[in-house]
Amino acid sequence: SIPIFTTVKGYREWRRNAYKENKSVGFVATMGALHEGHLSLVRRSLAENDHTVLSIFVNPAQFAPHEDLATYPRTLPRDLELLTAQSLDVTLPGLWSSIPGAGGVVTRKASAVFVPNVQEMYPSGIVQDVSNQKGTFVEVKGYGDQMEGKSRPTFFRGVATVVTKLFNVIEPTNTYFGQKDIQQALLLRRMCRDLLLSHPTPETLHIVPTSRDPSDGLALSSRNAYLSTSGRRVASTLREALSAAQESWTNEGLTKSESLEKAVEVVEKKKRWVEEELNGEVNMRLDYIEMNDVDTFEVLDGDVKIGGEGAPKAVILSGALWVDKTRLIDNIILGDS
Ligand code: PAJ
Repeated sequence: SIPIFTTVKGYREWRRNAYKENKSVGFVATMGALHEGHLSLVRRSLAENDHTVLSIFVNPAQFAPHEDLATYPRTLPRDLELLTAQSLDVTLPGLWSSIPGAGGVVTRKASAVFVPNVQEMYPSGIVQDVSNQKGTFVEVKGYGDQMEGKSRPTFFRGVATVVTKLFNVIEPTNTYFGQKDIQQALLLRRMCRDLLLSHPTPETLHIVPTSRDPSDGLALSSRNAYLSTSGRRVASTLREALSAAQESWTNEGLTKSESLEKAVEVVEKKKRWVEEELNGEVNMRLDYIEMNDVDTFEVLDGDVKIGGEGAPKAVILSGALWVDKTRLIDNIILGDS
């Protein structure tokens, strides 16, 4: 079974050995309630590293006082089962493949799990009210208040802080983040650059494509567990809206506002369907849908078109949709990323 470390000290002993043996360590940070999206990051890490470490920590600092910290799904035994079941056959290069009988193939599984408690991660203590927090926090100024940060003003400060701590503990050779949370991944890459981190560097922080439900394209998320049966039936609306905007922008050459208008129409149409077919059983509300510059996160200025004047090479098309009390997010990168 996989060793589970609950203390920084315990994990660091294990890490020292990996250094001694010159083994690479891939790292996947999570808040648990694992699903196929998390596991796709794990498999990427298994493929590219000798060791793979997963952390599970529901980070209080990234939840606002009114958010779902208390009810966030906690499924540790199941998470450990899912992780243990992941294995990947990797063909080793060079020497190994030439040794008869060795076959050049090894089966890799996750090597360690880090599951700290709040005291371990926040030695100075933590309260959710940011105006009342004590201790050291990391803020990536100017990059955490657009897009998701507009709706969740203290979210990225909490994420940057906990991920800095996790990087300091785990000391990953490579680390893997999901495109599902694109602003988070890009902001953390910038943080690595700004803080001159060596593990990881901006180059060894990798972004992995979003895993989706094959039936309707809904981005997998731990929060999907909150959806009611009828809520689940309309949850892919955001994805459909983003696809409509992508189609308008990329294939039809429409302007930014025309493309976003198409997305809003998709949501409005689905709302009417909910009224007619589901007797209004689900309450759906678009939080935002936007196009932002992939480097600055600023909203695209003016009514640009693809390739048009003022249009950046790569654009984040993203949005958030409330389905009853569940807030779902999704995004598509337009252009070169
Ligand atoms: P969590 O939501 O558990 O996600 C952990 C990692 O899995 C993140 O990198 C996220 O982008 C990725 N992920 C989630 N759903 C995915 C999907 N459908 N496809 C691909 N990747 C997906 O994100 C967090 O936790 C936290 O903010 C954390 C980084 C752990 C800091 O607390």
